[in-house]
Amino acid sequence: MTVHAYQRDLVRDEVLRGLSAPRKHLPCRLLYDARGAELFEQICTLEEYYPTRTELALLEEHLPALAAAIGPQARVVEPGSGAGQKTRMLLTALDRPVGYVPIDISREQLEVNARALREEFPGLEVQPICGDYTSPLELPRPTRPGARTVAFFPGSTIGNFEPDEARAFLARLAHLAGRDGMLLLGADANNDRASLERAYDDGQGVTAAFDKNVLAHVNRTHDATFELDAFTHRAVWDASHHRVEMHLVSMRTQTVRVGADVIRFERGEPIVTEHCYKHPREAMAAMLADAGWRALRVDADARGRMHLWLAGC
Ligand code: AVJ
Repeated sequence: MTVHAYQRDLVRDEVLRGLSAPRKHLPCRLLYDARGAELFEQICTLEEYYPTRTELALLEEHLPALAAAIGPQARVVEPGSGAGQKTRMLLTALDRPVGYVPIDISREQLEVNARALREEFPGLEVQPICGDYTSPLELPRPTRPGARTVAFFPGSTIGNFEPDEARAFLARLAHLAGRDGMLLLGADANNDRASLERAYDDGQGVTAAFDKNVLAHVNRTHDATFELDAFTHRAVWDASHHRVEMHLVSMRTQTVRVGADVIRFERGEPIVTEHCYKHPREAMAAMLADAGWRALRVDADARGRMHLWLAGC
């Protein structure tokens, strides 16, 4: 069996297990196929979706001070490098960065960005890693070691991890960054139900389309028969777990085939497609400490929603 077929079987098991559970769910990374990534880029420009623009403003304002704290000749490692706008801001602010290691599952996106960055930043060694950044990995050997390694994890992507996984992931980044390593992390601390539910269920229905796209993705990759119009998107703030949940709610009693398996839905029954945890300042400080990081500074917007953490090993 090829590695590819083996991985597809693993995903199929995960999908079927999720849809057979008492509380139906799908792995949130399935939201990010090519179409999903495109829709997410569109979400980032929406009025209701405050995290992106708020974090960009924080970077704009504080990068000079952050770059000074990081110092010259740093090597930047970025799990889930994506479109690269924030990367460019960081690399521009830093004093002669020596290297950049983007880690992403999309080989295409990695190659395109790597080529562009090599041109824009001559002297920067770009060493992309194609893979899932949630599994253990080793950094490629650099030509020049640099003064320190900085892990860059913006976008409140940390919110997609379950709390235990988030802690373990941050600990792995501490290990990866090594001696004198640093972490620049963007986290969302908002706990206001109204603004959160709007951010995750916008007026134009872009987030709804993003959410429903996961069904199209499963139809295509796992021979399933989801009817996109038979589900409706909903965003729910769960205050006790401090997370927004994205749900696709079945609008009627129905059965859906996934390969040879049949899944039954009650009317009103949800599939949970994503958990977006929010991290208040004290909770994140504690998690960083548990993961082996020492918080050096934290910058927040005027409403205290988005936080930019700089931590050292
Ligand atoms: C990519 C995980 C940061 O949780 O805000 C946006 C994903 N989902 N709208 C987030 C998302 C719906 C996003 N992250």
